[in-house]
Amino acid sequence: MSSDTPETSYEFDFTVLPEPGEGQRWSTWLQVERGCRGPEPRPPWVVTDQAALDTDLGVLKTGKEADVFLLERAVPDRADRSVLLAAKRYRTEEHRSFHRSTAYVEGRRTRKSRDARAIAKRTAHGRAVAAGQWAAAEFDALCRLWQAAVPVPYPVQIDGTELLMEYVAVDGAAAPRLAQVRPDRALLASYFDQLRVAMAELARMGLAHGDLSAYNVLAQGDRVVLIDLPQVVDIVGNPQGMDFLARDCRNVCAWFTAKGLEVDPDELLAGLIGQAFGSAGGSLGG
Ligand SMILES: Nc1ncnc2c1ncn2[C@@H]1O[C@H](COP(=O)(O)OP(=O)(O)O)[C@@H](O)[C@H]1O
Ligand SMILES: [Mg+2]
Repeated sequence: MSSDTPETSYEFDFTVLPEPGEGQRWSTWLQVERGCRGPEPRPPWVVTDQAALDTDLGVLKTGKEADVFLLERAVPDRADRSVLLAAKRYRTEEHRSFHRSTAYVEGRRTRKSRDARAIAKRTAHGRAVAAGQWAAAEFDALCRLWQAAVPVPYPVQIDGTELLMEYVAVDGAAAPRLAQVRPDRALLASYFDQLRVAMAELARMGLAHGDLSAYNVLAQGDRVVLIDLPQVVDIVGNPQGMDFLARDCRNVCAWFTAKGLEVDPDELLAGLIGQAFGSAGGSLGG
């Protein structure tokens, strides 16, 4: 059996189903290549049915470079085959108000030289490739981190500029950003510990989030979830890697300190550097 054999090989009779309506499409799950689907073991809630419909339920958040939508993927009349997803759709450059600094991508290479040339020449194709590369970079980062048990949304699939991922919710509503919550002291301390452990795991993998702040962390009840990872930075390979790591530490510590938990960014940074370079100084106990 070749590796690209579709998972569902039976012929599906689409004529028995209603046509997708306004704001709907057939599930794109089986259209995307295998490598564009999330890592195994796949959580049981991922809907893989060919008969599923994707329904746009509206905007969760519009951003500078991407908009995040709420999407339902469901088999009609099958309550057990239905899931809500967050769909992050990257904009092509002309629709953006802000350009991500090229400092993030130093040391990264574009595999296809035709694409690299198209990006440099800013053709329509080049703009689409560039937007798709941010989406692909975020999907890659989510896959790696999810497999390393870092608390991130499960990446369901990537299709061009659209990334589908686990919808992080509290009682059905989108989980608030850390910046929006006022946890009591015990929960505050627990959130900080969770973030430190997550950052340490990234550092152990040689990575920094690169845009970490109370706006890119969701508070889902008593746990935190890291989001917004297209710019994940290689601490060693990127000449400014350490600067990004230090800034992540400052942003995180500033928020906790303002909320009454005094934490030291230099101490956090030292611990993370220890993790990155495998020294004893990286112990998580301290
Ligand atoms: N998986 C998710 N589950 C729930 N809400 C999300 C999810 N991903 C993003 N969001 C919401 O969308 C907002 C923007 O997403 P983010 O990835 O930070 O993009 P950006 O900041 O680049 O616009 C987040 O602050 C959060 O409120
Ligand atoms: Mg963000």
